[in-house]
Amino acid sequence: MTDANLMEKIVSLCKRRGFVFPGSEIYGGFAGTYDFGHYGVLLRENVVNAWTRAMREHDNIAFLDSSIFTAGKVWEASGHVSGFSDPMIVCGSCHTKFRADHLLETVGVTADERMSKEQINALFDGQRPTLHCPICDKQKFGKVSAQSLLATSTLGMFGEDDEQVYLRGETAQGIFINYRNILDMGFYSVPFGIAQVGKVFRNEISPRQFLFRKREFEQMEMQYFVHPNEARKLYEEWRQERMDYYGRLGIKREKLRWKQHDNLVFYAKDAWDIQYEYPFGWNELEGIHYRGDYDLSQHQKFSGVDMSYYDEKTKERYIPHVIETSVGVDRTILAVLTDVYSEDEMNGEKRVVLRFHPRMAPIKVAVFPLLRNKPQLVDKAREVYRNLKKEIPQIAWDDNGNIGKRYRRQDEIGTPFCITIDFDTIGESPELKDTVTLRHRDSGKQERLTISEASNSIREAIT
Ligand code: GAP
Repeated sequence: MTDANLMEKIVSLCKRRGFVFPGSEIYGGFAGTYDFGHYGVLLRENVVNAWTRAMREHDNIAFLDSSIFTAGKVWEASGHVSGFSDPMIVCGSCHTKFRADHLLETVGVTADERMSKEQINALFDGQRPTLHCPICDKQKFGKVSAQSLLATSTLGMFGEDDEQVYLRGETAQGIFINYRNILDMGFYSVPFGIAQVGKVFRNEISPRQFLFRKREFEQMEMQYFVHPNEARKLYEEWRQERMDYYGRLGIKREKLRWKQHDNLVFYAKDAWDIQYEYPFGWNELEGIHYRGDYDLSQHQKFSGVDMSYYDEKTKERYIPHVIETSVGVDRTILAVLTDVYSEDEMNGEKRVVLRFHPRMAPIKVAVFPLLRNKPQLVDKAREVYRNLKKEIPQIAWDDNGNIGKRYRRQDEIGTPFCITIDFDTIGESPELKDTVTLRHRDSGKQERLTISEASNSIREAIT
């Protein structure tokens, strides 16, 4: 399987099995948006819960849910209005807009997206003779310009003089503008963190690669406020912790690597990405940034609110430095799907199987009555299903088609266990009464177990 095929197969499986649908599909689509279906919602829930659990392991991390809309000044202070942009190039013939760095990639030239407009222009000029428009094949490109990534809105704007409103371009700013509120609760002292999960909007010039680069996506961010002298040590500790976290998610270690940024964004003092090897190559999964005191100092300057921290013990007053861990829910989902997608042969039949870690699987167990037209089997299966559901909410009922078809379907959804209720369960062979067949997704192995043995086995795997 080539990697291009793998991406196509993942996209197609996601649609077929109800994980992810293209946004506004019945109207021809809306670029950079995707809708999550039933299994996508459950998988997303597992991704967010895993991240939230990892943050909750720290007693000194507070949670926040800040607004998507903020005063326009937030984004002026943060530097996003003036400096948050991507390099854009327009084809002078068909007028299609491209990311200049992405076009350069097509001729094997790597331009870091954080390079200045001038640096990219120089690179672009060097490559002009080799660059063709991917749409019309002409060579009529203009100059590289900076396209703001901030999406504007008219929410609450009724007059021409009203301040421009933006949808948030990162969740981090909601954290910085609430840092004082969290501190004033009197419960947290430096070092401490603020974590939040939420929607983010960016005017990406060319959203692409499925869930990888969207215009509306979700971030899981944590800002850790530290003493400037402690920042380097704690930055290294967070880098280590975040890499270890992906091991706990079940992602293969050989598919993850570190990449330090050569060109730092305006707010960063140091920045490393955890990259994942997606079907289209290595690219950023999570960013771990050392932001210094840039953000708090900027908000202090623009708002006039004192952002300093007074340490009662050392009698020292200072603006804390910030270490940030920032990862997209959507990119995590794409990494997990890439990691678990596999094709094999079972009992002479080809199958597609998502080998999720049981903790990450959207459905942990599916319950089947052997035959859907035998009321005794259906009643018993319903009873088993209802009892299990009290403990394992991510459960499915499946009575569609024959058992083989149900196994294939659950393999594609990535369900690690299937329980079948048959005539022995309801006492046809008295010694097997109240036993079921527990089938394991990866090996196809089937075990005859009592109902409580089967549920213990599942519980053990998912906790
Ligand atoms: N607060 C820092 C920040 O926003 P970023 O590198 O621009 O940094 C952080 O974004 C993370 O958000 C990325 O590592 C990625 O996981 C996710 N992300 C960024 N842009 C995205 C997009 N267009 N679509 C999906 N996820 C994106």
